[in-house]
Amino acid sequence: MSTAVVRGLGGALPGKVVTNHHLSAVMDTTDEWIRRRTGIVERRHADETESTSVLATLAGERALASAGVDSAGLVIVATSTPDKVCPATAPKVAANLGLNGVAAFDISAVCSGFVYALATAAWAIESGSTSSALVIGADTFTRLLDPTDRTTSVIFGDGAGAAYLAAGTPDQPGAIHASTLHADGDGESLIQVPRGAGSFFEMQGKEVFTQAVTAMSGSLQTVLDSAGWTAAEVDSLIAHQANLRILNAVASVAGIPAAKAEVHLDRVGNTSAASIPLAMTDAATKGHRTPGDRVLLTAFGGGTTWGAIAMTWPSISVVDPH
Ligand code: UT7
Repeated sequence: MSTAVVRGLGGALPGKVVTNHHLSAVMDTTDEWIRRRTGIVERRHADETESTSVLATLAGERALASAGVDSAGLVIVATSTPDKVCPATAPKVAANLGLNGVAAFDISAVCSGFVYALATAAWAIESGSTSSALVIGADTFTRLLDPTDRTTSVIFGDGAGAAYLAAGTPDQPGAIHASTLHADGDGESLIQVPRGAGSFFEMQGKEVFTQAVTAMSGSLQTVLDSAGWTAAEVDSLIAHQANLRILNAVASVAGIPAAKAEVHLDRVGNTSAASIPLAMTDAATKGHRTPGDRVLLTAFGGGTTWGAIAMTWPSISVVDPH
């Protein structure tokens, strides 16, 4: 059986930077509150030309270039803000990348989308169905925010991130060693955009906070057990970037020092399905990791959905999307 190995990473961000000071000028909030309660300093907002598919295409292009390849046998776009209700965004992104004819589909798992898509691509490679895959997480949730809702407006930002995977062996840097995915539809109303004209993104922040910490730390333990690793052997935790307090709580419950948790949300906020691949790209840009380091990914999001992945750090170079 083949092992799926990450060989390339890429990210893409909209040009418009929205700082906490910008938000405090238009709603009842302060830079001090946002920094203290979330850790976020600024985020990016997509304009009319920066659709989910545009950002996804750029991130995908950069991940392929980072791997030194120009094609992939499968394209998965994790998004809950597709360009259209139908068709899916992935076929268009694949065509933009010159990959017409390749299998391409979307995965809708909100903030857990990238973990879902990466695990799905790994299954496809492990089964021998394909020898390579491009996995992209892309979301433009700021278009769906209620501009008067200060609890969601301060958190979310737009962006895309991508990873290229190919068949390889477990000893190679970038190898995926274990994954776990979960969902509980009883929590569907915790994070939702109801159908109907003028519907906005709604989130029950406090309840989501509590469930996110329990679910992410639980799935980290599952992949640690599957990979045969201990928490002490983990070099880096790259968790969904929703709130600095959540990152610290997850690290603490999982027994991983908070200093090992990658932090990227200060500059981009919560970019939903893009958050983990953007944080990975940022870690690579900053030279935070060494190939072969033991890395855990984890996310929690609407559905509710959650999961985790245990992998080693790939040997790659990336373009800084900032
Ligand atoms: O990506 C999918 C997963 N999503 C998440 O993981 C998000 C999880 N939730 C959170 O990150 C946090 O719950 C929030 C950041 C959304 C809210 O932070 P919190 O610490 O849970 O605040 P809270 O809702 O308990 O509100 C505390 C106080 C309230 O005032 P009172 O009732 O104590 O007077 C709020 O009205 O803070 C007030 N508040 C604000 N004040 C200034 C809420 N939002 C703001 C704001 N600026 N933006």
